Amino acid sequence: MCGIVGYIGTQDTTEILLKGLGKLEYRGYDSAGIAQLNDDGIHITKVKGRIAALREEVEKKEVRATMGIGHTRWATHGAPSYENAHPHQSASGRFTIVHNGVIENYEDVQREYLSDVDMKSETDTEIIVQLVENLYHELGDVQEAFRKAISLMKGSYAVGIIDQEDPNTIYVAKNKSPLLVGLGDGFNVVSSDSMAMLQVTDQFVELEDKEIVIVRREEVEIQKLDGTKVDREPFTAEIDESDIEKGTYPHFMLKEIDEQPFVIRKIIQEYQDENDQIKLDPDVRQAMTKCDRVYIIACGTSYHAGLIGKQFIEKLAQTPVEVHVASEFSYNMPLISDNPLFVFISQSGETADSRAVLVETKAKGYPALTITNVPGSTLSREADYTLHLHAGPEIAVASTKAYTAQMAVLAILAVDTAQAKGIELEFNPMKQLGIAANAMEALCDQKEEIEQISADFLPTTRNCFFIGRSVDYYVGLEGALKLKEISYIQAEGFAGGELKHGTIALIEEGTPVVALATQENVNYSIRGNVKEVAARGANPCVISMKGLDQEGDTFVIPEVHELLTPLVSVVPMQLIAYYAALHRDCDVDKPRNLAKSVTVE
Ligand code: F6R
Repeated sequence: MCGIVGYIGTQDTTEILLKGLGKLEYRGYDSAGIAQLNDDGIHITKVKGRIAALREEVEKKEVRATMGIGHTRWATHGAPSYENAHPHQSASGRFTIVHNGVIENYEDVQREYLSDVDMKSETDTEIIVQLVENLYHELGDVQEAFRKAISLMKGSYAVGIIDQEDPNTIYVAKNKSPLLVGLGDGFNVVSSDSMAMLQVTDQFVELEDKEIVIVRREEVEIQKLDGTKVDREPFTAEIDESDIEKGTYPHFMLKEIDEQPFVIRKIIQEYQDENDQIKLDPDVRQAMTKCDRVYIIACGTSYHAGLIGKQFIEKLAQTPVEVHVASEFSYNMPLISDNPLFVFISQSGETADSRAVLVETKAKGYPALTITNVPGSTLSREADYTLHLHAGPEIAVASTKAYTAQMAVLAILAVDTAQAKGIELEFNPMKQLGIAANAMEALCDQKEEIEQISADFLPTTRNCFFIGRSVDYYVGLEGALKLKEISYIQAEGFAGGELKHGTIALIEEGTPVVALATQENVNYSIRGNVKEVAARGANPCVISMKGLDQEGDTFVIPEVHELLTPLVSVVPMQLIAYYAALHRDCDVDKPRNLAKSVTVE
């Protein structure tokens, strides 16, 4: 994980680097640091803690410099500490590095090339910068030393290195970890994503794996590791800076929950032509109709969206679907059908576990479609096809609008496939999604009521269970994930029918149990489960759908098509989690130990 930035130009770097790091804090926030180079030499400021703490330290120093690099960290090797915070320096202090990724062979490199160097940190990163210095002594050329050091690295890296003796160059390299070079007039920047540097430019060049870049004020030279020059056109980042600001909201999560109805309407607009027909890349349609089985690969919330996607694709398009947690796929590789299509669902498009599966399945020649919120992301670039979520930047670590957007796009994809296969459907996805969007909006207007529910059910509890049957079970998994990740209440989702096979033993006097009842065919059974837990002392919170509601239900969501209830029933789950976290004084947008984009396996 982690995020890196770099600037070389004519303006002072302090604000540019700090602002950029602030935008990358979603990638990790254990520690942070910057290195600035000016006529007095290199100035490093770093802290264990967040960008706000870094800012305090930086402001005390008042360094002025027109080039620098910065880092925000999610610890992998070595605990979060001042010593392990980036930037790291070589033994003499000449070279300084920031790095996002994991160097898998760092112990081998250390043993083979750096056995006489005293390491100052416990990080894998430090060996890169120490090696650059050693190789420089051997080769007498910084660029060659950098190239050779990078070619010895195995693993993932997005690296920025500066040389105290050269105020005109940032050395950059990338493999597997995301990295962009931003172009300006008299300046250039590097950044883990475009949001961090939109403050100075909207022109970016994508980097491919195993490329190095020599970044100077007036030029950017991309090379392959063997020195071959690469020409690549920049693209314009189409993000509005206001999309990445909280505005009047206290938290990004609340803003993003509220944005969901608009995102669904945007998806309708993007995926519909002027004749109200589905507008979808014909290649995607062909891939979906040609395949005999879809393998959905995803992690976390995106995996939960995949479980709902399976329902859409099997019920509407009648294509069999398997859904796999990416990190488990390689160990438990299923038998693959004759004509598979791999569908990767990922908000960020950078999740390393999903990417590992993409690399493996691509090597076997299987076609891949990525459904993502970031079209230029690694998973998008490396798959054969991409479908865009159009959700706008999602900043809060807990995913909300990307989840509902993923389900909406999967519903459209399923209907499009059904139509291409000549299957007659009564389900009109755009109309039903429009109804769902209105229902979501109505729920967003009921925040006070939901806040009260959260306060009533979860004031001091240690744990909370979510139960449901059919798709409600999958939404329960997502509700539990939201609650645990931001409020630290131990929360688990269970299939209602599984309770009596073991789980019910966990129910004690007052245990909160959130039960979802939005599906007619299981309404009777889930209500039976509610009675079972209530009889054992649980405190049930029943969230039902209008038309299926019963006296005493805690909250009733508006009626929507039974296929699309997850888009709507998840909204109270998200808000319950939000208010539980808020009332416990948790850091809603940046929960402990997590990062938004999980770029390490
Ligand atoms: C939970 C959450 C994570 C992500 C997961 C996959 O709120 O956000 O579980 O869903 O890390 O991330 P993406 O979708 O970026 O691949």
